[in-house]
Formats: sequence, structure tokens, C-alpha cells
Amino acid sequence: MSSNNASASSKSLRVAVVGATGAVGREMVKVLHDRNFPVAELGLFASERSAGKVQETPYGALTLKAFDAAVVKGYDVALLAVSGDFAKAHAKDLASAGALVIDNSSAFRYDADIPLIVPEINAHVFREAYAAGSRLIANPNCTTAIAVVALGPLHKAFGIKRAIVSTYQATSGAGAEGMAELEEQTRNQLDGKPVTNSVFRHPIPFNLIPQIDAFQENGYTKEEMKVTWETRKIMEVPDLLVSCTAVRIPTYRAHSEAITLETIQPVTPDAARAVLADAAGVKVVDDPANGAYPMPLNATGQYDVEVGRIRSNLVFGDHGLDLFVCGDQLLKGAALNAVQIAELAL
Ligand SMILES: NC(=O)c1ccc[n+]([C@@H]2O[C@H](COP(=O)([O-])OP(=O)(O)OC[C@H]3O[C@@H](n4cnc5c(N)ncnc54)[C@H](OP(=O)(O)O)[C@@H]3O)[C@@H](O)[C@H]2O)c1
Repeated sequence: MSSNNASASSKSLRVAVVGATGAVGREMVKVLHDRNFPVAELGLFASERSAGKVQETPYGALTLKAFDAAVVKGYDVALLAVSGDFAKAHAKDLASAGALVIDNSSAFRYDADIPLIVPEINAHVFREAYAAGSRLIANPNCTTAIAVVALGPLHKAFGIKRAIVSTYQATSGAGAEGMAELEEQTRNQLDGKPVTNSVFRHPIPFNLIPQIDAFQENGYTKEEMKVTWETRKIMEVPDLLVSCTAVRIPTYRAHSEAITLETIQPVTPDAARAVLADAAGVKVVDDPANGAYPMPLNATGQYDVEVGRIRSNLVFGDHGLDLFVCGDQLLKGAALNAVQIAELAL
């Protein structure tokens, strides 16, 4: 793992995880523990529905509390993993009370004055904003976070002119309920029982759905446009040409992405491999002859983003590259990235 570990720090902080029962929130608690984040006190918050329930965590069995802004304001760090509406209602208020608020929703990602951070790529943006008093930070869309870990270093080395991204996104991208729907519907289908869907628009077992989030006027979905907008902001290339097709597939966890790049400088697969081998947060898995390439089952539970199938692109020739990327979207695409941001403040 290439990111800094927090254990060396002398500070010890009160940390609130809001949305602690969810797919992202549960991972946040694990990541705080696994990275030895200096936690003086950990508060687990969720909705009224969860208040008083006990959740097993690596810190022991902890009792969940209903979110209460007045209480969470007393924490040093608030990791929000709830929703955009929730973040709009509470994030600024918590941040103005002094807590470092890291929000996983899309509520603030496109605000010019709110940093959108992937530490391997733009930690300097966080540091400048934090030094100037910013306390509300946006965590990126999961697909984008995974992509930029590979695209950032390639852009530095060769310059990216255009990127075309096709995604294969796991059901847990839609939260804990998405995973539960995959499991239950698959069982029902195999048992010959009726298959009903509520999280996804169509049945997900033995299917794939080329729609994630709502369609926009330009025919792209919002998820697809997030990849364009957020890649530009994180990589600080406002006019970067990025087109994405986002597809939900029946896996539990870890998103995969086929990425085609046209570069400004000439590029070879070997040169790209060398750049990626040195890149923070990347693990090159690229031995196709022996069946070694990124796959969601292997990327699951890993901090690093796997990159492989690196080859010259037949359309763009010596200015083109194809890659296949897999990353755990609950980790690098959410919980890990959020904790890494908090580590930048230590
Ligand atoms: N899943 C991903 O791969 C992923 C990746 C990147 C970003 N995100 C973003 O991260 C956020 C959380 O996603 P998720 O997938 O973890 O969702 P999830 O599994 O559905 O969890 C949602 C969490 O929010 C809590 N919650 C709901 N209403 C609340 C309220 N009024 N007050 C306090 N807590 C409340 C829920 O608590 P109860 O159990 O009490 O209902 C639960 O803990 C979303 O904004 C999502 O877009 C998700």
C-alpha cells in the first residue's frame, strides 16, 4: 500500500462516522482501525431507525446514536456517508463549528470553493484550502476516484488529450441495499421464485443495466457526467475531453473500467507500465499470458487500484493506450479516500 499511514502522528482526534450502518460507513470504521488513524473517541451515527442498536466493529461492539448535529459538532472529524440531501442540510453547519467534514455525497463536488480530493493526485489542493481555513471537503464519485489514480500519473508523463471510459460497476455502488437485492434476486431466480427489483430499475441477476443514476439532457446519465466533471476538477484540466458509459453489473463489490486514452506525447505500453509501477495507489497486474489482469474479485478489499491489459490502442496508434482498471469502490472510491483525506490534516 502506497499511501501514508497515520500511526506516526501525535494528534489524537474525536471522529464521528455518520451513516455508520451503511456500505460506506462500515468500511470507514474498518479503514480508520486498519490504518491506525489516531482515534481518541469514535462516534457511530445513523438514522433514528438505528439508534440504540449495537454494531460489531474492530473497536469492539459500539452503540449507534441517531444523528444529532449539536453532538457531532463536538467532534474533530466528521465522515459523512449518508446522502446529498443530508449533506446539504448539515455539512456546512458542522464545518463552520470547526469539524473537518469529509462528505461522500455529490452535494458539493462541483462547488468551485470546495476541494474535491484524491490524495494521490491533488493533496496540494487540500493543504492550501485547509491552511486557509476550509473545513468542508468533497470525496469524489467512486468510479472517478478509481480512474484518476491511474490517469493522473499517465497525464503527468504523457499528457492526456481524450479519455473514453466504459464501466462495469458493482451492486454495492448502490449501497448496502443494492448488494442485498443482488443476493436475494439471484436466490429467487435460481429457486424459480418471482424476481422483483426495487433498488435497480431492472432485475440485476444474470443481467447488466446500462443506466446508473438519471438521464441528462445530453443523453448521458448523471453517473457518466460525474466522471467527466470530476476527472477535470481533480486533475485540474478543465477542458479535458472525457466520455463515459456507466453500466451496473451483477457483482458484489469493486468497480471495473475499460479506459481508452489518446495522449499528447507518444506512449508505449512499457513506458506506461513503468509510470504506473511507480504511481501511488496503483498495482500493475499485467501478465495476460498467465491470466493475470485486474478483476473485481481480486480488487475487493484492496487499497490499491489494479491496472492491467495495458496495450497500444489500434485507433490512436503510438499516441493511444488501452487499460483495464479495477478498484474497490467502497475503499478507494469512498471510505479509504475519505480517511486518507483526514490523514492529510494530521
Ligand atoms: N456505495 C458506494 O460505493 C459509494 C461510493 C462513493 C460514494 N457513495 C456515497 O456515500 C453515501 C452513502 O452511501 P452508501 O452506499 O453507504 O449508502 P447506504 O448503504 O444506503 O447507507 C446509508 C447510511 O445513511 C444512514 N442514514 C440515512 N438517513 C439518515 C439520516 N437522516 N441521518 C443519519 N443517517 C442516515 C443510514 O442509516 P440507517 O441504517 O439508520 O438507515 C445508513 O447508515 C451516499 O451519498 C453515496 O452516494 C457511495
